Amino acid sequence: MADGNLRRPLISGNWKMNLNHFEAMRLVQELSYQVTRDDVDAVDVSVHPPFTDIRTVQTTLESDRIPFFLGAQHCHSDASGAFTGEVAPPMLAKLGVTYVIAGHSERREVFGESDELINAKVRAILANEMVPILCVGETLDEREAGEAQRKVEGQLAAGLAKVKPEQVASMVIAYEPIWAIGTGRTASADDAQAMCQAVREAVGASHGSDAADSVRIQYGGSVKPINAAELMNQPDIDGALVGGASLEAESFTRIIQYRLHD
Ligand code: 13P
Repeated sequence: MADGNLRRPLISGNWKMNLNHFEAMRLVQELSYQVTRDDVDAVDVSVHPPFTDIRTVQTTLESDRIPFFLGAQHCHSDASGAFTGEVAPPMLAKLGVTYVIAGHSERREVFGESDELINAKVRAILANEMVPILCVGETLDEREAGEAQRKVEGQLAAGLAKVKPEQVASMVIAYEPIWAIGTGRTASADDAQAMCQAVREAVGASHGSDAADSVRIQYGGSVKPINAAELMNQPDIDGALVGGASLEAESFTRIIQYRLHD
C-alpha cells in the first residue's frame, strides 16, 4: 500500500444540474470567504458547475483570486464537429478548466455512455492537457451479488485502455458506489478503503507501481461534513467527489476542512 501523504488531497464539488450563473457566482464568493489559506495549502479544491456557469465562475475565480480549480462535469470526445448540444475538450481548456469528470454513473446510466466512449473522453481530456476524473462504481445488486470489485475493475481497465502510465499517474479516479449517490447512504470507511485499495492495486497491475503510487483516488457518494474525515483518513482515499453537500458554502467548506474535524 502506498503512502497516502505523497498525494495531495482533492475535494471536488460536482454541482450536477443545479445553480444558474448568478447562484454559481454567489456560491464561489461565499466559499472564498469561508475557505482559508491554510485550507488550500492543505488540499486542492475543484468546483464543477454546469456549462452555462463556467465562464462566470472562471472570471469570478480570477478576478477575486480564489485559489480553486475550475472543473467540468462532462465533455465530448471530439475536438469539434456536428454534435448538437455537445461541448468539446478544447473549449473547456480555453476556459481554464483543469479537471473534467468522465464516466459519472449518471452519464453511464441515464445517458447510456459506454466504457469505450468514456475511454475516448479520458484520452481526449488528457490530449487537451486537462485532468480526467474517471468515475467507477457498482450498483446495489452488483454489491449484494459479490460482483462489486469485478465491475469496478472492468470499468477501470476499459477506461484506462491505451492511456500511458505517466498519464494515469496524473489522473484522478473516483470510486462512487451507485447506491450511495444522493441516497444519504455512505459506504463504510472500511468498504470504501477496501475498494480504493483494489483500484490502486489494479492500476499497479495494468500501469505499474509509479502510476499506482501517484494516481489520486476519490470516494464519492453521500459525502457530508460528518463523514468526510473518517473517509479521508483512509490510506487509499485521496479525496472526495461531493454532490449535494457541495451546493452550500457551509457544508462544502466543512468537508474541505475535514482535517479540523477529526
Ligand atoms: P452525492 O454527494 O449527492 O451523493 O453525489 C455524489 C456524486 O455523484 C458526486 O459526483
